[in-house]
Amino acid sequence: MDNRDKLSTLARQIQICKKCPLYKEATKAVPGEGSSEAKIVFIGEGPGFYEDVQGKPFVGNAGKYLDFLLTKVGLKRDEVFITNVVKHRPPENRDPATAEVIACSAWLEQQLAIISPKIIVTLGRWSLARYAPRAKISDVHGKLFRTQGVAVLPMYHPAAALRSGQTQKQLEEDFLKNSDLFSNPEKTEELTKNTLENGQVSLPEGQGSLF
Ligand code: URA
Repeated sequence: MDNRDKLSTLARQIQICKKCPLYKEATKAVPGEGSSEAKIVFIGEGPGFYEDVQGKPFVGNAGKYLDFLLTKVGLKRDEVFITNVVKHRPPENRDPATAEVIACSAWLEQQLAIISPKIIVTLGRWSLARYAPRAKISDVHGKLFRTQGVAVLPMYHPAAALRSGQTQKQLEEDFLKNSDLFSNPEKTEELTKNTLENGQVSLPEGQGSLF
């Protein structure tokens, strides 16, 4: 089976998942979509209203804004992979409960194992928490770090940017600042060595290391 088939098989399993109660009120599961050979994976929080209806990630307002950000740095949606921490919509877009995140994490784990990306871009605090549970997004946004054998680039959530002009400005700056990285994900280590000198933040003890 090639990666594409493996991801499709996984998506079919996700569509019938009952590991947590979220499936009960959801319309469709949203496994994620994009290239099975993606070098960059974007991880959001969970499906919202439109994602739940269509079964596709980031297709509502936040998704349109994410598309705009991707275009700004020369990325096409079909060359990356986009998914979420939880695959069914939490009712009324509430935060996912810890038990729901844990129940769903095996799916994300398997998706990442198949794709094996060079860079994981976390969108918002839920996906950041998976890699650096004690890091504050306001401290680490836009700054690549390495943990669990992978490069993680934390970004503010596009929906948060739509609610705050300041966050929007920061998110756009963070995307642009990392555009070389987005064009050359294979060169992650080489490119980030230089940025370390430009005043990087430190992660809390034991929460991965900056390049
Ligand atoms: N917000 C998310 O976190 N994920 C989506 O798929 C859509 C909106």
